[in-house]
Amino acid sequence: MSNFSFAVLISGNGSNLGSMINHIKENKIPGKICCVVSNNPEAYGIQRAKDAGIPYEIINNKEFKSREEFDYSLVKKLKKYKPDLIVLAGFMRILSNVFIEAYDQRILNIHPSLLPKHPGLNTHKRAIESGDKYHGITIHFVDESLDGGPICAQSKIKINDSDQKKLETRIHQLEHELYPKVIRWYAEGRLEVNGEFVTLDNKKITLN
Ligand code: GRF
Repeated sequence: MSNFSFAVLISGNGSNLGSMINHIKENKIPGKICCVVSNNPEAYGIQRAKDAGIPYEIINNKEFKSREEFDYSLVKKLKKYKPDLIVLAGFMRILSNVFIEAYDQRILNIHPSLLPKHPGLNTHKRAIESGDKYHGITIHFVDESLDGGPICAQSKIKINDSDQKKLETRIHQLEHELYPKVIRWYAEGRLEVNGEFVTLDNKKITLN
């Protein structure tokens, strides 16, 4: 895809955003971030966008009466940047059909668990408490289901002990490597959604 650009939606720290910025600098993602959007005015990720000279928008969800109104405003704001892809990176809002239909099959999300295990919040704690041997991350296209869209890639690690903080740090490291890689695949036109499945270079993604 020539002149590939993507928008990154955040709500917090934005360490994944930081990793994407670094990967672009190192030419490991062929394209640019056209804009960063935060629903949280206090998100540290906004500072990361400023430091990198990336345009940013703050759309505070608390100022909207409904999810749909917030999503309309999001779609409207993003329109002027013409993103090829929307990348959710710690964006703590459930998107309605208003947004999903506007960017059908062009929204990626990263979730800190091996989906379909542990959708929702507190995944590290839940993985430890469930006695899981492995924990990991999932990158998937977003559809109307919560953390349920077609999966592009997963990466996993062994759970060594019950130290949640340590596990979270290791999970973040996985995220910072895998998300830029998947964005690159997309930018190179190698990822496609085929019904419930995703193909990479026309081969169905197999999860391990
Ligand atoms: C990540 O763990 C991601 O999987 C989840 O939210 C966290 C965001 O972290 N969706 P950061 O804001 O990118 O540091």
